Amino acid sequence: MPKPSVAPAATGITSILNESRVFKPSKDFAERAHIKSLAAYKKLYAESIKDPEKFWGRLANQELVWFTPFKKVLQWKEPVAKWFVGGRTNVAVNCLDRWLDTPIANKAALIWEGEPASDGRPGEERILTYKQLHREVCRFANVLKRHGVGKGDRVLIYLPLVPEAAIAMLACARIGAVHSVVFGGFSAQSVADRIADCGAKLVVTADGGYRRGAIVQLKKNVDDALNLRDAQGKALAASATAVIVLRRCYNDIHMQEGRDFWWHRELEYVTADCPPAKLESEAPLFILYTSGSTGKPKGIFHTTAGYLLGTKLTSRYVFDLKPEDVYWCTADVGWVTGHSYLVYGPLANGATSLMYEGAPNWPEPDRFWRIVEKFGVTILYTAPTAIRAFMKWGDEWPKKHNLRSLRLLGSVGEPINPEAWMWYHEVIGGGRCPIVDTWWQTETGAIMISPLPGVTPLKPGSATLPFFGIQPEVVDEQGVEVPRNAGGKLIIRKPWPSMLRGVWGDPERFKQTYWTEVPHTYFTGDGCRQDQDGYFWIVGRIDDVLNVAGHRIGTAEVESALVSHPSVAEAAVVGRPDELKGQALVAFVTLKSGIHAKPELRDELRQHVAKEIGPVAKPDDIRFAEGLPKTRSGKIMRRLLKQVAAGVEVKGDTTTLEDFNVLTRLAQASE
Ligand code: PRX
Repeated sequence: MPKPSVAPAATGITSILNESRVFKPSKDFAERAHIKSLAAYKKLYAESIKDPEKFWGRLANQELVWFTPFKKVLQWKEPVAKWFVGGRTNVAVNCLDRWLDTPIANKAALIWEGEPASDGRPGEERILTYKQLHREVCRFANVLKRHGVGKGDRVLIYLPLVPEAAIAMLACARIGAVHSVVFGGFSAQSVADRIADCGAKLVVTADGGYRRGAIVQLKKNVDDALNLRDAQGKALAASATAVIVLRRCYNDIHMQEGRDFWWHRELEYVTADCPPAKLESEAPLFILYTSGSTGKPKGIFHTTAGYLLGTKLTSRYVFDLKPEDVYWCTADVGWVTGHSYLVYGPLANGATSLMYEGAPNWPEPDRFWRIVEKFGVTILYTAPTAIRAFMKWGDEWPKKHNLRSLRLLGSVGEPINPEAWMWYHEVIGGGRCPIVDTWWQTETGAIMISPLPGVTPLKPGSATLPFFGIQPEVVDEQGVEVPRNAGGKLIIRKPWPSMLRGVWGDPERFKQTYWTEVPHTYFTGDGCRQDQDGYFWIVGRIDDVLNVAGHRIGTAEVESALVSHPSVAEAAVVGRPDELKGQALVAFVTLKSGIHAKPELRDELRQHVAKEIGPVAKPDDIRFAEGLPKTRSGKIMRRLLKQVAAGVEVKGDTTTLEDFNVLTRLAQASE
């Protein structure tokens, strides 16, 4: 079956995926679902688009707990939206306090499964009820306050996937501090850059985190980050004056007197009484850094009420969340999926959210299926890259376990290829579970395009139809909607409550990146096609951002990391199709004169990128080249490099190429 791809034809984007299977929803599922029919979805969708403000206003009143009701639903001054103006609320109250006087108080909010030990001992298990989670959040919020953290202050969270990650996030939300979670796989340099960019006052970390039996030295990375200096010798992360350290692995670490404090010790000084801050709807909730097409990660920031409403509603309707569900989103809190669908969305619905600390194949490739069976997971939300890995490891691993508890499956992060969809449907879902292929982004805060289970007929590989209140369109260079089945750019016409409010500290970049490509609309950066039934088929990124294993990696970021190595003169990074990861990173590197292309250098450069950005960004393949193909004006012709990287014949217009021999040599070098 052909795979989705972007063909850079003169007209723009062509989708060559030709998938004609349709899976009708089961009557059984539909009868019990929150939204019961396609007609009901269409009616509600039409209403939401006809008068979005009325629609969102009604739901915000109905769904959220307000200290002060809002006066105006939307104040829109392109590109800045203010939702639910005049209202005051608190995310932690909506996720926790509101359940305390209800039967949900003693229900599991978080079920946590730790990584098994390397000697085969099973992982720890912890369950926190809503009441317990509330107490822990209040206590930790008081710890933050004791360290001078208040409304609007930024807190950097660099933790493994343990309940304390959610506790720290919710504690920030409770007092109006803004969290920025950094994935544990990022390096000291990345931590320092992020602290510097957002001016974080305090860092929350752990001594270490477990990953496939090894310990990730989180505290050591924080120490290194706090010691890093800029070119002028100034400490990069000078704003951070305190570090709270969770004891997780009991590994040896350095604690600096007066700066570093143990989480468990700090708790001794505080009570569990912490009144929530009454925050404006637009109070910033979090900043999450993501790759863009330039070298510097963007601090995408989200605010309080709109984000909460978006994640709450999508969690309920897309995952059809019910009180009895055991819902498992396999993402790390370091990514937006972990924010919206591991923590905020499920808890705002009073659901049970499962968290697993480790890797899917540790100690054996049946780890996920063991967990599904052990806890009776009913809803599983994971990424195509994981699904493809499971396929490769073989059906025998899921087949060893009873997966009958599953009733719904979800996918996110990249286009899911129909083969993987079918496998997920048959082998994991036993042919009975609908699959919700959810399209969204760090920037959108919540799911934008997705089937509603039990309602939307499914086509493997398509994210199907928009969520309520969302108006996506596929347009050409001029912003004019293209005919059905033609490829184009995916844009969103109107503001929506959970949309990003900006790039932290850089309003100009926000405008340039998202609001200028197609005038007066939000540009997603994705290529897309809408079929004759109006279904959306995402083709992939059309900017210089790659999607590697469901994570966005800016090619420019990896290039600047490579060029910062003393041996490197120039680097160009492109993607090549990869069976498991979707895309793999291929770096073409030219070395400074006098430096020899020794094989060891390859590994050194990969380690260098890991140090600069993190292991997630390590190139899969480094190719040394004498020169890179460039236009006469000196622009690297990535289009050609992509073809060389993929090992296909170099086609297309090469007339602007300055030196054709460069290309011949590159192709020969890769053979
Ligand atoms: O290219 C799209 C792809 O992932 C990008 C967003 O990445 P990020 O901000 O890291 O958020 C990932 C989790 C929401 C999108 O621009 N993407 C995400 N979900 C899908 C997808 N591509 C196709 N189908 C999806 N379901």
